[in-house]
Amino acid sequence: MSLPILPSCSVVPSDEELAALLETNRYDRELYRLADARRKEYYGTDVYLRGLIEVSNFCKNDCLYCGIRRSNRQLERYRLSDEQILQCCETGYALGYRTFVMQGGEDAAFSDDRLVPLVVQIRRRYPDCAITLSFGERSRESYQKLYDAGANRYLLRHETADAEHYAKLHPPEMSSANRKECLWNLKRIGYQVGSGFMVGSPFQTTQCLVKDIRFLQELQPAMIGIGPFIAHHQTPFVRHPNGDFILTLRIIAVLRLLFPYALIPATTALGTIDPQGREMGLRAGANVVMPNLSPLEVRTKYALYDNKICTGEEAAECRNCLTVRVESVGYQLVTDIGNVKKIKTA
Ligand code: 5AD
Ligand code: FES
Repeated sequence: MSLPILPSCSVVPSDEELAALLETNRYDRELYRLADARRKEYYGTDVYLRGLIEVSNFCKNDCLYCGIRRSNRQLERYRLSDEQILQCCETGYALGYRTFVMQGGEDAAFSDDRLVPLVVQIRRRYPDCAITLSFGERSRESYQKLYDAGANRYLLRHETADAEHYAKLHPPEMSSANRKECLWNLKRIGYQVGSGFMVGSPFQTTQCLVKDIRFLQELQPAMIGIGPFIAHHQTPFVRHPNGDFILTLRIIAVLRLLFPYALIPATTALGTIDPQGREMGLRAGANVVMPNLSPLEVRTKYALYDNKICTGEEAAECRNCLTVRVESVGYQLVTDIGNVKKIKTA
């Protein structure tokens, strides 16, 4: 088998070649090595920090994989006040974070009327920081207002690019088409967009993964976040096996080779499925980590999946822990806004 992205990435792999590459572990070491070299060409050994603030676990959606889905009646719900959120930013700034990611379920309380003044305030206090939002699907008008208020990045995973697969993971009122439309709108407005998907979500096939990669090639997002699916005990997918760790690493490496400029996080889910997951992710081509800045008392409540790491550690502890982890594999955390190096606009 000849694989065009091995040893050089000058030729674009066909669907068949991509599928073959995803299905074998024969090239893994070579892939990690090539991906690491490619990332060093673009980003050196720098690893960017994103401070994650989980502002609300209320959600109107009912995604079958997610622990904060509306049907999970056992979950204790919370939302942070503006003061709490600003406090997280202050803590994060002091720890060297220059990107704040506000993430929440699709919570009507985080309307434009609530979010716009908050974004304006954070923008005024931290002109040297990126403000990233992750509040799911909203109207184009809403995205525009938030952008005008000072937000510059938006994270919205497409979850799966295959419409039929999407329908198996989501309730009927949600659609892959709408999700993609949101991503295009974000891109047209001028956001640096982050998309991505879960590896090993129930019913996923290699063909789904090929489609995911093809969709990302169209979208050309600034950031690509992937992590293994991890079952949550209070969801319908409780008995589905978790995503494969090694397959996730392999896909990180393939993504780095196909998207050399991309910001690719070594995600918390990757660190949850394996104690060395984030370190291995970095070695396979990832260059971002997203430690938690949420107040300790809400950490366990933002449980999208079981056994999530870092629920008992203060922001400063995670910062120190990550410094050691990142350096242990030859990279270093930097105090930098961490913008994408080169990106096509819509
Ligand atoms: N396992 C892994 N990742 C999950 N996400 C949601 N639920 C799970 C789960 N059970 C991911 C989704 C979402 C992101 C915030 O977290 O991809 O977009
Ligand atoms: Fe949170 Fe290690 S990163 S404890």
